Amino acid sequence: MLTNRPKTKILVDGGDPAETLRIKSLLGFVDGQTTNPSLIAKNPEIQQLIASGHTLSAEEEKNEYKKIVQSISPHVGEAGVSIEVFADLNTTAEEMLAQGQEMFSWIPNAYVKYPCTYEGLRAAQTSVQKNIRVNVTLCFSQEQAAAVYAATKGSKQPVYVSPFVGRLDDHGEDGMDLVRNIKKMYERGDGHVYVLAASIRGFNHLLWSFALSAELATVPGKVLEEWAAKAFPMPDRNFSYRGVDASGKPLKAIPYKELDLNLPWQSFDIAHELTNKGIQKFVADYQSTLRRSA
Ligand code: G3P
Repeated sequence: MLTNRPKTKILVDGGDPAETLRIKSLLGFVDGQTTNPSLIAKNPEIQQLIASGHTLSAEEEKNEYKKIVQSISPHVGEAGVSIEVFADLNTTAEEMLAQGQEMFSWIPNAYVKYPCTYEGLRAAQTSVQKNIRVNVTLCFSQEQAAAVYAATKGSKQPVYVSPFVGRLDDHGEDGMDLVRNIKKMYERGDGHVYVLAASIRGFNHLLWSFALSAELATVPGKVLEEWAAKAFPMPDRNFSYRGVDASGKPLKAIPYKELDLNLPWQSFDIAHELTNKGIQKFVADYQSTLRRSA
C-alpha cells in the first residue's frame, strides 16, 4: 500500500477493469483512469471475441467501450475516467462533439478525450462551453499546449492536456522536457489546465512527473506494479532526470519557448507529425476490432 501519497494524481492507463481493481488493491487507491482506442482494443474480453472470430460492428464496439468505462467508473477517484472519441484525420469537430456528448453521458465522472488537432480543439472549445470535461490528448509540443489553454479559457472545470512522453522519447527527444516546459508556461496562466503526463514507460518518468509537480500522470499497470515492487520510491530533493535512448545516449533536449497564452488559440502552430501518426495508430487499432463490411 502506498502510504506517502504524491500530490500528482495517479491514473491507470488501460482498458481492463480487472487491472484497475488489481492496481487499486496494490496502491490502496486509484485517482482516475485513461482509455483510448488502442487500449480498448486490447481489453481481454474484446480480444477473446476477436480470437473466437467475432469481430464487432461499430455499434457493438461502442457498447463494449461503454460497458468497460461503466465498470471502471465507480472504482476511481476524482480524476475521473477519460474516454476517447473515434476520430481519423478527416473527422470534423461536429462529429467529435456528437460522440463526446454521448460519451460524457455514460458515466458521472467522464472526461472526453479529443486529439490535439484543429478540429479536436474546436470540439474541446465547444465542449467546455457546454460543461463537458475534456482531456486533450496526443500533445507533442508546447504550442499545442498553449492552444489547449487558449481554446478552453473560461472552463468552469479543470481541463486536462496530455503530453505523450514515451512517444517523444521514441522519436529521439526528451519527452519529460515537454512536461517541464508546459508546467513552466502555465505558471503564468490562470490554472484551468492540468498537465497529465501520458505515455509513461517507466517509473523514472513517473518520479520525474512527481518532481515536476504534474497535476496528474497516467501510468500502465505494469509500471505501477514495478513501482510497487520497489516499495514505491519517491523523488528526493536531489532527484534529477535526463532521458536516454536504448544505447544510453542522452535524448535531444526540448528547449523552452516564450509563448503568449493570451493569443487566440488559432494563432499557435499546432501541427505535429506525431499527433497525426497517433491518430492513425488509434484508427488502425480500433478498426482491427471491427467487422469489415463487404
Ligand atoms: O497515455 C497514452 C498512452 O496510452 C500511450 O502510450 O505507450 O502507446 O505511447 P504509448
